[in-house]
Amino acid sequence: MAFQKPPGTQDILPGTVEAWQFVERTARDVCRRYRYREIRTPIFETTELFQRGVGETTDIVEKEMYTFTDRGDRSMTLRPEGTAGVVRSYVENKLYGEPDIAKLYYIGPMFRYERAQAGRYRQFHQFGVEAIGSGDPALDAEVIALGWQFYREVGLSGITVEINSVGTPAIRTAFRAKLLAFLEPMRDRLCKDCQSRMDRNPLRVLDCKTDQDKFEGAPSILDSLDEEAEAHFARVRECLDAMDIPYRINPRLVRGLDYYTHTAFEYKAQGIGSIDTIGGGGRYNGLVAEVGGDDRPGVGLGIGLERTLLLLESQNVRPDLDAGVDVFVIGFGERAERELPGLIHRLRASGLSAERDYQGRKPKALFKAADRLNAKFTAILGDDELDRSEIGLKDMGTGEQRQVPAAELAEVVRQILNEAKKGNENQ
Ligand code: HAM
Repeated sequence: MAFQKPPGTQDILPGTVEAWQFVERTARDVCRRYRYREIRTPIFETTELFQRGVGETTDIVEKEMYTFTDRGDRSMTLRPEGTAGVVRSYVENKLYGEPDIAKLYYIGPMFRYERAQAGRYRQFHQFGVEAIGSGDPALDAEVIALGWQFYREVGLSGITVEINSVGTPAIRTAFRAKLLAFLEPMRDRLCKDCQSRMDRNPLRVLDCKTDQDKFEGAPSILDSLDEEAEAHFARVRECLDAMDIPYRINPRLVRGLDYYTHTAFEYKAQGIGSIDTIGGGGRYNGLVAEVGGDDRPGVGLGIGLERTLLLLESQNVRPDLDAGVDVFVIGFGERAERELPGLIHRLRASGLSAERDYQGRKPKALFKAADRLNAKFTAILGDDELDRSEIGLKDMGTGEQRQVPAAELAEVVRQILNEAKKGNENQ
């Protein structure tokens, strides 16, 4: 029997992994400039962390967690998201004791038992950031800007930012009552999902895709904000304006996790089937205390890497990923065969990428292999060259051939590559 990967997972193969590396490199580079530093936390945590952190009544905790009992009889869960683990680590490692706020980022797999479809998987990957230790609305805007900048730098267009304020728990309690008064008379006409959400988490009812037409005239949470929440939201918008980041206020935006306070936001785009949310986040002022730490405010975001890559594909953005091998080394004859390992090793040690044949190919097939690898040069070593301590160097772009002293091969290749690079930059 041949084995197959579990439903909702993917093999990322050579040929595809280069695009992943490009996206991850971009994420890391954006974080470097915004001064977020990488944190790596465990793939699994105690189940209770997510029950407390993400919220008992969320879909994630109720239906989607990969929970198991370990051999020591403890309930563990594969992380469905990154924030709870990072906040746990922040508290456990007392990062709040440091003079600066914690600005952290992570890239890694998350697990949710969802119905798999294009853009929705059971093992997926997130790039996320968490800034913990300040309630300044300018920090909310910084996080939104960081995500926006990431999408731009990977080369995506047509992304919209939606923002909302979900206020404080007290504001939400008051709003929930108003909203239920509006929804109750139409309860029977709402879809099954909405009906059950009305009892568990009424704010999420407004998020329903099927019943949108019935919600005209629904109360808006933005009318329920108190002065402080309103001022916070206004300041976030001012900062976004100052950064020229376009956004749309969506008073019905409610996220699928319970920890948000004040700012909630999502990045949206068309092009991945019925899925339009490609990233999201918000402020979580009560979460650090909920996880057992001192009361510290935080704000962060999570960006789906599969969705980013699907969108790049649908927008036909193809970053130049396969730079090709610098030198393909070919040896003719037994003596050359003995020299090859040392020669190719020195090329690689000098910083160039180099490849050779390991399949006993004939000369014609060797040059074909060099073409297939998109080699910039072939270095040819035969008896004549060996006698003269030289190597035949062929520039695969121009077809030009020359003899180079063996000891200078790496230096000559590097010089030609540098000149070509300069030429390109000056164009
Ligand atoms: P989230 O909205 O649950 O937020 O997930 C963030 C992003 O992860 C989504 O917008 C989507 O791109 C991707 N994603 C989620 N589920 C799946 C899935 N099943 N398959 C593929 N991609 C998926 C969070 O997780 C929060 N921790 C974000 C955050 C950080 N808020 C504050 N800090």
